[in-house]
Amino acid sequence: MDHFLYKDGALCAENVPVAEIAAQVGTPFYCYSTATLLRHFRLFDEALAGIDHVVCYAMKAASNQAILTTLAQAGAGMDVVSGGEYARAIAAGVPGEKIVFSGVGKTREEMRAALAGGIRQFNLESEPEMEVLNEVATAMGVVAPVTVRVNPDVDAKTHAKIATGKSENKFGIPIARARAVYAHAARLPGLKVVGIDVHIGSQLTDLEPFRQAYRKVADLTRALRTDGHVIDRLDLGGGLGIPYTRSNEAPPLPAEYGAMIREELGDLGCEIEIEPGRLIAGNAGIMVSKVIYMKSGEGRDFLILDGAMNDLVRPAMYEAHHDIIPVIEPDAGVEQRPYDIVGPVCESGDTFAKQRMMPPLVAGDLVAFRSAGAYGAVMASEYNTRPLVPEVLVHEDQFAVIRARPTFDEMINRDTIPAWL
Ligand code: LLP
Repeated sequence: MDHFLYKDGALCAENVPVAEIAAQVGTPFYCYSTATLLRHFRLFDEALAGIDHVVCYAMKAASNQAILTTLAQAGAGMDVVSGGEYARAIAAGVPGEKIVFSGVGKTREEMRAALAGGIRQFNLESEPEMEVLNEVATAMGVVAPVTVRVNPDVDAKTHAKIATGKSENKFGIPIARARAVYAHAARLPGLKVVGIDVHIGSQLTDLEPFRQAYRKVADLTRALRTDGHVIDRLDLGGGLGIPYTRSNEAPPLPAEYGAMIREELGDLGCEIEIEPGRLIAGNAGIMVSKVIYMKSGEGRDFLILDGAMNDLVRPAMYEAHHDIIPVIEPDAGVEQRPYDIVGPVCESGDTFAKQRMMPPLVAGDLVAFRSAGAYGAVMASEYNTRPLVPEVLVHEDQFAVIRARPTFDEMINRDTIPAWL
């Protein structure tokens, strides 16, 4: 459930007509709903009620400072994967003890910053990384809390580019080697093992792969305890999928996911950490764009929008589907027609949808891409020197621009001309 609904024929974000925002901000822009963000965060929190747990929002999904502050004030922890994301979490007021640091390529500088500012744990992904963190922590005279991310070799049954739990993926250490790697970690004085980490992929629409992975983690917990390690925490990653269409998709709900976690891991006495990103932000955001031209081609009609692949890359990168709806509610029974919906960028990959059935649209009409809140604005670029797409946050009947559209001068002046020119 989200808070982007038609009211009196006009698409609204909570109580604000989207067209009103467009009139003030211009298009394209991203628009997020505070109520939806908070609702989704709380669904996870409630799903794990009764178990010691922390929900660490994977901010890579949507990391505008206003979104992070909203979630931080609701009590969210954060999952970060870079020094920049760590700095954002701290700036949003998240205490270090609620920040987990993931990622295969953490640098010494990133490790130092997190150890100095406070960190719940590093999720380590290789033995070389383990050695480096040990060196950094020892040099600082501190002990770094760590888990090791294990790769359980399960098929997440999702898009190949976002599956991470198969042995051919670059992530984690093979679960078969885990006991040896934990023994190695235990010998390093700068590290303190606190638990196990696993994350098998994103946009999972079936609980079964999670269940398989978590079962392997439960077995490993017992084995590592037998080996004398203290395993108090299990970081189960993110990955729960969202419905991208309004019709037929019904991925498992956070409550069902939570029930499965209890079943598989509830008897281990571990604190549970989860790192959801997409499910919190995905359906809490839309991208609003305007039709520039309706162009009749040979045998097909093109809707050319002012939004493009640089603003929302998911269709070009993952063949992802986003529902696209008119901002003015079409009359019931209006005849739909097929359009190829494209952006103005100079490559054919700049196509959002082919032969998509839509009510008739003309230049100047506004459309909204649904389910665009996660991996939308954060993956935007300025390709074709198109200004970085702005972001707006709605709260009940108010809205605020939370990232302004840069001017051409701002974009040009970010570059510098060497003295020899
Ligand atoms: N934890 C780790 C270690 C991750 O790598 C990810 C996502 C998450 C948590 C959050 O997963 P989520 O709950 O959002 O599924 N750009 C792609 C998605 C990439 C996901 C990367 N890792 C897309 O647009 O579909």
